[in-house]
Amino acid sequence: MAIRQPVVSVLGHVDHGKTKLLDRIRGTAVGDREAGAITQHIGATEVPIGRIYEMCGSIIGSKKFTVPGLLFIDTPGHQAFTSLRARGGSLADLAVLVIDIREGLMPQTIESIHILRQYKTPFVIALNKVDTIEGWNSTADRPFVLSEKDQQAHTKEVFEQHMYEIISQLSGNGVFADRYDRIDDFTKAVALIPISAKTGEGVPDLMLMLIGLAQRFLETRLTKEEGPGKGTVLEVKEVKGLGQTLDMILYSGTLKTGATVAIGTRGAPLVTRIKAILKPKPLDEIRDPRDRFDNVKELHAAAGVKIAVQDATGVIAGAPIRVVKNAKDPSIQEITEETSIK
Ligand code: GTP
Ligand code: MG
Repeated sequence: MAIRQPVVSVLGHVDHGKTKLLDRIRGTAVGDREAGAITQHIGATEVPIGRIYEMCGSIIGSKKFTVPGLLFIDTPGHQAFTSLRARGGSLADLAVLVIDIREGLMPQTIESIHILRQYKTPFVIALNKVDTIEGWNSTADRPFVLSEKDQQAHTKEVFEQHMYEIISQLSGNGVFADRYDRIDDFTKAVALIPISAKTGEGVPDLMLMLIGLAQRFLETRLTKEEGPGKGTVLEVKEVKGLGQTLDMILYSGTLKTGATVAIGTRGAPLVTRIKAILKPKPLDEIRDPRDRFDNVKELHAAAGVKIAVQDATGVIAGAPIRVVKNAKDPSIQEITEETSIK
């Protein structure tokens, strides 16, 4: 059965390494170019399954997956951006909660846990920055299970202390987590994967965990829907040569050029037409691409894309967008209802 790629949102406290993790997966340096090194918008990147196989190498064994890849959503951790975090959480089929191993749970980590709980989003925890543990012996991109074997007894002890402190903080917040390689039943415990976004250690384990969970627990949810496209607007921008554009996440159905769409505004929904659909290349961040976008005629969920529209008057970031038959389509009413949900 054909399934779509799951939307995987990356959430967590400011500076805990969300963008760095995605940079490591993409082979980019988006984080280095951010103003004040702080993420201020939601981003999106498609990671094809081929890249995941490449990263996982030997630990993948003979396992085969039908998940075509993962669509990662980067969110800001700064306290000012609660609504962007909530939007990122609401879009997600699956999430990664990033926690700095030395800092532990911080206010926006706890806020992220509340968002994930609110939307009943399954998640894993990336216990990041293991390379900062005193004496840690790093080898780039190595699976964590191998990396750990290579540490001195004392370093391993310090690492375990930090990890158990965080497991206990999580349990105080109602999250029962354990090291992923010590979990028998993934429906009962949240998997914790020690990683370094800087050196890439543990990232193979994290990727394998994500596609494994998507394949096992989300298959029915990820069934491809052929219906009208539904999505969420991330940003509204005027672009020279294109006019009004919207960055959006298409999470269900199909989008075609020339299609009529209804989009949420503060007032009545705006009904307009799609002039062009521009799709970032795989492994490119929609906010900061390396390469030119592909101009496509038709697109299936899930995807992060830029669309040029005839009109974007009054469209707000976070608004729902969906393909409709015409300005009288009854589903336009649902746009009004969805827009009013905060
Ligand atoms: P916001 O988007 O602003 O919430 O922050 P973020 O979670 O995206 O953090 P970001 O990826 O920008 O990383 C913050 C800082 O931590 C940067 O200077 C990174 O280089 C550094 N950093 C991230 N991950 C690691 C890691 O695994 N090890 C070390 N040593 N530094 C890291
Ligand atoms: Mg960031």
